[in-house]
Amino acid sequence: MIELGESMKITKKKKLKPKTKNLLIFITCIFLIITSIFYGTSIFKNSEKKNTSKKVKELKDTKNNTKLKQLKNIDKKINYFDHKKIDRYLAYQKENKDLKIEKVITDVNIGIDNPYYTNTKETKYLNESYILVNKYNYLTKDYIPDNLEKINTQYARSGMQLINYAKEAFENLAKAAQKENLSIIAMSSYRSYKYQENLYNRYVQSDGKEDADTYSGRPGFSEHQTGLAVDVYNGKEDYTNFEKTKEFQWMQENAHKYGFILRFPKDKTNETGYQYESWHYRYVGTEIANYIHKNNLCYEEYYVQKIENKK
Ligand code: DAL
Ligand code: ZN
Repeated sequence: MIELGESMKITKKKKLKPKTKNLLIFITCIFLIITSIFYGTSIFKNSEKKNTSKKVKELKDTKNNTKLKQLKNIDKKINYFDHKKIDRYLAYQKENKDLKIEKVITDVNIGIDNPYYTNTKETKYLNESYILVNKYNYLTKDYIPDNLEKINTQYARSGMQLINYAKEAFENLAKAAQKENLSIIAMSSYRSYKYQENLYNRYVQSDGKEDADTYSGRPGFSEHQTGLAVDVYNGKEDYTNFEKTKEFQWMQENAHKYGFILRFPKDKTNETGYQYESWHYRYVGTEIANYIHKNNLCYEEYYVQKIENKK
């Protein structure tokens, strides 16, 4: 039941005066006109903007396609191609017309289209066997590797340290050589930032900076600071004559089996940034060492092709 009082309530609508009514209609019309003008223009502007950015993108794509054609569309074949470096690839290719396109990409990725010690960055993969330290990738002043251990003095000068897994591999290598009456002795291994700084400064004082840079890493840029690099000799000859020893021959044939590579080969001085060093070896693990040995690469080449941006 509806209560009578409720249902009988009649609201008496107030009638608007015609003048007010006209004014309201007028205001509504003006409002509608302004809104539609504004809306129309913004749609027009947006579509114009979209068209322009589409055109810019198309132009950019065409330019990039031309550049990629010049690089034989190698971006589709090699997975270490970096689209951000297209202009550098082209410039380097222009300067090095005899190089294969894969080598152009590799060298630019290493950074050697720019002078050594430019565009440097703090290196990644600290404490890992595949870390890269060179003239473009550095370690900070305070970096000390984890788990440094002393190498058995049967195979090293006293106090020589490496990261535990590299130390073990080095001892196995030296033991195997010893079985063939060969003596592989570690004469320099882990070096702190400070130690390298003093060493480098001494070399600069005696030979000048330009010369020193060909054989000594600047502090932070020496891979001796990784705890994975070792300089060896045979206990008799000066280390600079290591190349002439039987031990060197043995290292050439066997070092990779224990995870070590010759770090600064004769034919890769441009890539590594250092003169040939027959005595300097670097632990990278057996898998990488075998690959590098088989394919005649230096560590920079391997790193930019297989490790950088993939790990
Ligand atoms: N002798 C090598 C390049 C170093 O100082 O790290
Ligand atoms: Zn060395």
